[in-house]
Amino acid sequence: MTEHNIRQEIIDACLQMNSSGLNQGTSGNISVRVGHSMLITPTSVPYERTTPDMIAKIDLSKEMTGAWEGNAPPSSEWRFHWKILKNRPEFSAIVHAHPPYCTTLAILRKRIPACHYMVAAFGGDDVKCSGYSAYGTEELAVMAMSAMEGRSACLLANHGMIAAGADLEKAMWRAVELETLARQYWQALQAGDPIILDQKEIEETLRRFQGYGVG
Ligand code: 13P
Repeated sequence: MTEHNIRQEIIDACLQMNSSGLNQGTSGNISVRVGHSMLITPTSVPYERTTPDMIAKIDLSKEMTGAWEGNAPPSSEWRFHWKILKNRPEFSAIVHAHPPYCTTLAILRKRIPACHYMVAAFGGDDVKCSGYSAYGTEELAVMAMSAMEGRSACLLANHGMIAAGADLEKAMWRAVELETLARQYWQALQAGDPIILDQKEIEETLRRFQGYGVG
């Protein structure tokens, strides 16, 4: 796939993210690894007006300098995209959004426990919620990295969520599954005391997922 096609795929995924209700306005951003760099959506440009040349390119092989190439400045959240792609070679795509249910739990600073076996799609028996720091800061990037340790997603306190994947399709799939899980957990909390699966039950799911293609 050419770099131009990847740039277009990022824009298409952003449009899909908003039309599906996963995100609204320009609150989300998406990055994809290409070679030793990452491509990332521009800051504050409505997705309908984003063109492939506006997708910024940032080097992942050097230290974090803030340098970028392109016709528009990168997302204000480039730091956490950069840190995750730099330090987690298993991921090549990152989706950040402010989905309603993930963000509701993040406002309550609640992690998502093993309320459904699908929690295993994120690598373990929960999805953690990071601490709070202002959007775009390096401190937020550090907190996000730590909340994602051993996991492929996290909630961001009073902010939203991050989902990662081996490619953009996988990262988008996880973003949708995470919002579904957040909604189910939230609804269960309204109705009573959710029953939480134990470690053995989640380990069994993790084993089954290896043959299912979502591991
Ligand atoms: P950008 O428009 O800079 O990508 O920022 C959106 C956002 O919500 C930051 O969390």
